Amino acid sequence: MAYVTTPIYYVNDDPHIGHLFTTVSADVLCRWHRLSGYPSFMLTGTDEHSAKVVEAAQSRGLPTLEWARSRSDSFKNAFRVFHVSPSDFIRTSEPRHIEQVSACVRLLLQSGDIYRDEYEGWYDAGQEEYISDVKARQFGFLSPINRKPLLRRKEPCFFFRLSAYEDDVIKLIESEQLKIYPEVRKEELLMRLREGLRDIPCSRPRAGNWGIAVPGAPDQTVYVWIDALLNYLSAVNTSERRELWPPTHQIVGKDILWFHAVIWPGMLLALRKSQPFSSLALPEMVHAHSFWIRDGEKMSKSMGNFVSLHELNRLRETYGADSVRFFLVSAGPHGTSDTNFSVIKLHETYGSALANTVGNCCSRVTTMIAKYCPDGRPEKRGESGFPIARVMRLISQARTAVARSDISALVEGALSVFRITDGYIHQAEPFKLARDPSQLMHVSGMLHDALEAIRLASLLLWPVMPERMETLWNAIGVDHLSQTMSRGGHASSDAHFAWCESAFERPIVPLRPLFPRVELADISGTTSELASGRA
Ligand code: MSP
Repeated sequence: MAYVTTPIYYVNDDPHIGHLFTTVSADVLCRWHRLSGYPSFMLTGTDEHSAKVVEAAQSRGLPTLEWARSRSDSFKNAFRVFHVSPSDFIRTSEPRHIEQVSACVRLLLQSGDIYRDEYEGWYDAGQEEYISDVKARQFGFLSPINRKPLLRRKEPCFFFRLSAYEDDVIKLIESEQLKIYPEVRKEELLMRLREGLRDIPCSRPRAGNWGIAVPGAPDQTVYVWIDALLNYLSAVNTSERRELWPPTHQIVGKDILWFHAVIWPGMLLALRKSQPFSSLALPEMVHAHSFWIRDGEKMSKSMGNFVSLHELNRLRETYGADSVRFFLVSAGPHGTSDTNFSVIKLHETYGSALANTVGNCCSRVTTMIAKYCPDGRPEKRGESGFPIARVMRLISQARTAVARSDISALVEGALSVFRITDGYIHQAEPFKLARDPSQLMHVSGMLHDALEAIRLASLLLWPVMPERMETLWNAIGVDHLSQTMSRGGHASSDAHFAWCESAFERPIVPLRPLFPRVELADISGTTSELASGRA
């Protein structure tokens, strides 16, 4: 069972490449588990209870809920057109979430893990969070994010007793009961944790009717982060879904790792003190990726340099949604370094990896099969000289890497298999042998092995490019898999990852190019990079 989550996104921002990247990464992981034979569940959604949402709705003369819904829909649609298929999309303004947050906060009040006090500190209004005195001084009392002055605030509020869970959280992370990827992030977290944990404010004075009131204290609203983190629990804490718990993979950006690896486990440990949650398991892994940047600069609202949904949609229209996904997965900031976004890089990746390597190899092999094999069906005939063991090693290495949530290994593994297959065809020249009728059986065996390698590589690529790989599967007669997968099901086992001598039971249809040629000129003028001549 895999339960894969993304952060839930603030509705006051427009969807951009960062949101799409995290969400596609989670979708790829979830699809990978489904393909490997595991029932899987992917959760994404929107974080709506920020005070800024009220202001934005007011300035447009709309009811807050209505405005939030339309913004939430824009995330939903953005993800849908990029072939992301979450099992659920949660909104924090939904009653099912609000009820569960109230219930959890009530339990934490009863156990004394949430208590009333007063808070004074430096507040970053843009981020809706308090900044530690040390950090405030370090940034000259300006927001580290938008550089606006921090506000000195003193207010009555509730606190969450995070300090009580310091040792437990350290143990969880050290023992890898909670795995943190990449490893370097784990060390950073532990260093910061060993400096000590303080209790954190978990409510703010209530204004208006937006957000979740603290039970028994109608003057206080549950702090958005406490509200938002609980979405991972509230979405599945129902009688039908309870067995999905706990999250196995929580994909987040590096900016919010602390919330997910420290505060969130702390909250769950505290909840365990209360009867309904006494045997609550804890999340298994948090993967914190780095950031897409542009021209070496962090993308931000104030810089206005986000790779916007508009820009992403232009790229999608030109290259196809699957190709944009492929680029995000193959070039994205999965590790500890940020990645510079570049349309030129996307174009080059499309040309070399997709059109020339994957697409060409598929068209070439299927065309030869239709031409040279009796009934268009390649058959295994003795030794073909195809490097089967090498291919199987690559498949197995990729599978091991994805188990550590390294999804770029899918792309690397698949491309290596395609290159090996191309190299084999180039060297063994079945198209020349086929001129001699006595060699046709041998040629059929060679093409069988080439196609079998393509089938295996397509398994690695399906989570990344589901639509294109299903087109390939339908052409090479493995459509039973595409039917199960496209319906959101999971494979009955992982048997299809084995080398198979009788995989192709239907005549093979020559494949039209999976990745048609695109000229760079087709997108010029539509992206700021090309328009400004940065190409
Ligand atoms: N609402 C909170 C999360 C609550 S989760 C319980 C939030 N929302 S957000 O809209 O700001 O989204 C943050 C997430 O978007 C990041 O953690 C990351 O996953 C993604 N990205 C935002 N900008 C990004 C880049 N420039 N690059 C890659 N991903 C980044 O924080």
